[in-house]
Amino acid sequence: MKQETGPRRVLIEKHKKFSESALWRLQREYFDQAGIDAWVNQVPFYITSNPFIATCYAKLVIAFIRDWIKKNPDAKNHPFYILELGTGSGRFSFFMLKILQELLQGLGLEEIQLVYIMSDFTKNNIKYWEDHPALKPYLEKGLVDFAIYDMESDRSITLFKKNIQLNTETLVNPLTVFANYIFDTVSHDSFAIREGKLYELLISLSTDDTNMKNNRPINMEKINTDYHINEIHGSYYHDPHLDAILETYKNTLKETSFLFPVGTFRAIKYLKKLAHDKLFIISTDKGYSTLETLDHLGHPSISFHGSFSMMVNFHAIAEYFKTSGGGACLQTTRKGIKTSVFSSGFDLKDMPETYMTIQERVEGYSPGDYFILHRRISDSFQECNLDTLASHMQMALWDPHIYLKLTNRINAILGESDKETIDFMAANMKNLAANYYYMPKSECILFEIGVFFHAIKNYQQALDYYKQAMPYVGEQFGLYYNMALCLHHSDAQEEALIYFKKALELDKESKETEEWITFIEKKLSEQKT
Ligand SMILES: C[S@@+](CC[C@H](N)C(=O)[O-])C[C@H]1O[C@@H](n2cnc3c(N)ncnc32)[C@H](O)[C@@H]1O
Repeated sequence: MKQETGPRRVLIEKHKKFSESALWRLQREYFDQAGIDAWVNQVPFYITSNPFIATCYAKLVIAFIRDWIKKNPDAKNHPFYILELGTGSGRFSFFMLKILQELLQGLGLEEIQLVYIMSDFTKNNIKYWEDHPALKPYLEKGLVDFAIYDMESDRSITLFKKNIQLNTETLVNPLTVFANYIFDTVSHDSFAIREGKLYELLISLSTDDTNMKNNRPINMEKINTDYHINEIHGSYYHDPHLDAILETYKNTLKETSFLFPVGTFRAIKYLKKLAHDKLFIISTDKGYSTLETLDHLGHPSISFHGSFSMMVNFHAIAEYFKTSGGGACLQTTRKGIKTSVFSSGFDLKDMPETYMTIQERVEGYSPGDYFILHRRISDSFQECNLDTLASHMQMALWDPHIYLKLTNRINAILGESDKETIDFMAANMKNLAANYYYMPKSECILFEIGVFFHAIKNYQQALDYYKQAMPYVGEQFGLYYNMALCLHHSDAQEEALIYFKKALELDKESKETEEWITFIEKKLSEQKT
């Protein structure tokens, strides 16, 4: 009898320091190869890439710049640089640029020189941003630039377009840094506390041989992790700030395992060096902000979703800034993602407008709170009437990503909804369109706005949006057919005929298109006779 043989277990690495694990290399390879496709149904992005979070950040930055200029009047003669780390798709950056520009104009602050730098470690993302139509106007104005920056290395950061290097000469004002969903992506060490002793956690990785090709794992989600503990005596990092944090944990935490964001610390130290020690950092991620929440944790759990992510130890990052001439504001612990603000070279409490904005936008109704509320509505929108959905869109600041989830429901209830709400929605369609940031394989909001106007019989507006949708949706039966209908209702029968004929070329089986063609041809010939 033939014996069944199952997959064989392969050890990929044994007892590695967490920050030196092959996991980080695999993660980098994933982002490098996937480029923009990482965000097509794999790596979650909405939570940190929406107009609400961008508005919070923009208001914080403007408050900070105003505070800084008040204290240092000469600062207005030098550019304020904002560096976005691990930018990814660029959707957040687009909203930031749009809102920053509106705020600068609206508040009469146009004389402030602002340069927003979208950075990532992989060129593949930069290629996507360079050709993106929504970023073009900001590139032309010089408000945005791009740079390669790998947080795991201290290589120089040079702006692609302006060809300026970030260094102590160019960075006169503090460097503002945005770090969304990235502190969890760069390397960490891991430790355990048992009965007042500190241990490093060493990781082993294994997988089935069926998940191996050319000596490397194919699918990260099929990797198993095991931990081994090794007691630490004396200084671990030979860095007084980092070692002091570990010492505090050893003396305070009872029994736990925790991550230590060494990749983040490396980047912070490098950026501090470039910017005369002066940094203003805003970060949103999953994480722990207090000693209490760091205690009684199991070994680090890694969640895989194309790439992988972990919980950021915001508490350790805050301790680092507080003990090295800066400060930190961490929001009171609550469920969901956390927004944190850090400063180096100055105290946030000495910046009144910034501090008030932090109270309002971080400690108050924060990006995490917005996301929780938005999710609740998104889960139950089938029960909502149009005025609730309109308020939801208002809360989401007319984000196309949200509208696309609601569009079927909205179109279905338009006929039974009141005129006041429909008019309100119609008046805001231009805001929805202005927030369009194209991402591959996602629906086109311009087409959906066309459908909205079509449904309320505003055929001219519908046609206008269908035309704008053309470059994005391409040669598509639905688009030509809808345009033909709008043209017919606008009494442009000859043009309608052209569009019905184009639609029929794209779907030769469409009986109703044939019927429309026959109907209009007959109508036109009757008009001639
Ligand atoms: C989880 S995504 C977050 C993207 C974006 N910030 C967001 O909130 O959606 C992580 C991003 O960090 C980039 N990244 C990974 N390792 C990096 C490193 N060592 N230095 C800089 N960026 C890195 C990836 O290419 C990817 O764009």
